[in-house]
Amino acid sequence: MNHHTPRTRWQSVKMALAFIAPYKRQVAYSLLALLFTATITLSIGQGIRLLIDRGFATQSADLLTQYVLIFLLLVFALAIGTFTRYYWVTWLGERVIADIRRKVFNHLINLHPGFFDKNRSLEIQSRLTADMTLLQSVIGSSVSFALRNFIMMIGGIIWLFITNAKLTAIVLICVPLVVVPILIFGRRVRSLSRQSQDKIAVVGAYVGEVLGQIKTVQAYNHQEIDQHKFHDHVEDAFSVAKHRIKQRALLVTMVIILVLGAVGVMIWVGGMDVIEGRISGGELAAFVFYSVIVGSAVASISEVIGELQRAAGAAERTIELLDTPNQIKSPLHPQELPSTVGGNIEIQQLCFTYPSRPNNYVINQLTLNIKAGETLAIVGPSGAGKSTLFDLLLRFFDTNSGSIKLEGVDIRQLDILALRSCFALVSQTPALFYGNILDNLRYAKPDASDTEVEAAAKAAYAHTFISELPQGYQTKLGDAGLGLSGGQKQRLAIARALLADTPILLLDEATSALDSQSEHLVQQALNKLMVNRTTLVIAHRLSTVKSADRIAVFNNGHLEALGTHHELMQSSQLYSQLATLQFQLDAAS
Ligand SMILES: Nc1ncnc2c1ncn2[C@@H]1O[C@H](COP(=O)(O)OP(=O)(O)O)[C@@H](O)[C@H]1O
Ligand SMILES: [Mg+2]
Repeated sequence: MNHHTPRTRWQSVKMALAFIAPYKRQVAYSLLALLFTATITLSIGQGIRLLIDRGFATQSADLLTQYVLIFLLLVFALAIGTFTRYYWVTWLGERVIADIRRKVFNHLINLHPGFFDKNRSLEIQSRLTADMTLLQSVIGSSVSFALRNFIMMIGGIIWLFITNAKLTAIVLICVPLVVVPILIFGRRVRSLSRQSQDKIAVVGAYVGEVLGQIKTVQAYNHQEIDQHKFHDHVEDAFSVAKHRIKQRALLVTMVIILVLGAVGVMIWVGGMDVIEGRISGGELAAFVFYSVIVGSAVASISEVIGELQRAAGAAERTIELLDTPNQIKSPLHPQELPSTVGGNIEIQQLCFTYPSRPNNYVINQLTLNIKAGETLAIVGPSGAGKSTLFDLLLRFFDTNSGSIKLEGVDIRQLDILALRSCFALVSQTPALFYGNILDNLRYAKPDASDTEVEAAAKAAYAHTFISELPQGYQTKLGDAGLGLSGGQKQRLAIARALLADTPILLLDEATSALDSQSEHLVQQALNKLMVNRTTLVIAHRLSTVKSADRIAVFNNGHLEALGTHHELMQSSQLYSQLATLQFQLDAAS
């Protein structure tokens, strides 16, 4: 994590400007309203001077009425201006954040999955929420607040000079006294702010993780340990926050003492001048008014500087995310696939290591040809690299060396969307989403008709249990399909894959959570569907394996043996071992 450098801070500003750029009209409204209200506020000082020197001093009731009317008019204009300013500035903040949110999401959802191996997705998520809230409050209020106070400060100083140059000199001498501590403390507050935000993100990620695994947590009576851990995380965040609060409070305190101290000195010096008749009472009142304005503007700026700096941190992290290059990209000029893809797959000399473990060859010199329409079963001990092969076929990762060809075209030469639309994947852990069953089934084919959905559900032996649910296909599922059994989830995942109707079906232990009876049924349905399709099935049961055309035995990332059940029983020791074990299990169940 790099800290703010002038360069990254400049980048933050550039990012904000780029996002604000489309809304020039709204920015113009905001700036005009800002200038308008600042001008009116500043002119109130002149009003006070006139009121005191002409209205009161001349004892004229008419003049007094006149000035009060002008004053009321100014107040009215100020109210309208403030309305406009508040409306458009806040509007800008909300609009820009909505755009940034969309842009970040669009980027993340296309990013190579390896990125999320290295970065906890929950942490990214919670940090994004916190960062976006911060950016929103800054763009939607703090920036305008700072700008308004800046205008007031400049305007106030100008009026101070016009009103009384001698007194102004006193004010200006005080300026460095105020600015220097702000700079020193501001820097400390800034670095603490960043630490503080990182800690909060960890807290958020921790909550998400624990609540996501709540049953495991409670089954192992782990609550107390988690409470302690959470306590530590929270206290950790608090102690950093405490440090930050203290620095910031000191900053504000110092500013107040210095500024109001200066005002006191001024009133004393100016009061002497009034007593000796060198200036009028109205002039002194206006002068005090302007110096209070300048003082509070400086104080306000110093207060929002902390927030602006925190926002710079948030913007910086957002830029980091947006700048993360997608390592899996379609080539500039992708090759076309034939109009009908049968599913010929050639895997040659494939070697692969996960980016996080560059020395561990998960796939090692794998060569394997799969013919269109074939059903290939893949068996092997767990950790052999079977699921990883599916990841590589879908190009979630690029290989270190060797190649995978689909219909004779290297998959790196294909458009990624075109490549993936050839496959339907039922992954090892069935992936369901919050929403109803229908939406989950239609996931891969949003325009599927009700009849199509039902046919797929029937084929996957899911229709019966779905119909028995109180709301049938409209039944809402919790996060990740909460509310269904493992076997039911798997059948939904299979139905979804069938509905997708792709040339190649990838089944990763897709029936592992089914009892033997429903597995038998699903298997029969799959057998029918596999007829016109290329199917790669990672299997753990012999029944599946036996009906395959060929069986590939994986061990430690390489192909140990390839053949039919009978061939392998003779030729592969590993296979006959796996088979014998499985027979015993099947007999026992
Ligand atoms: N995202 C990952 N990062 C690093 N290593 C991984 C990752 N996923 C799997 N592995 C490792 O790769 C090896 C093969 O895993 P996998 O393909 O899931 O095995 P199988 O499906 O055959 O049981 C295992 O040793 C596993 O620890
Ligand atoms: Mg696996």
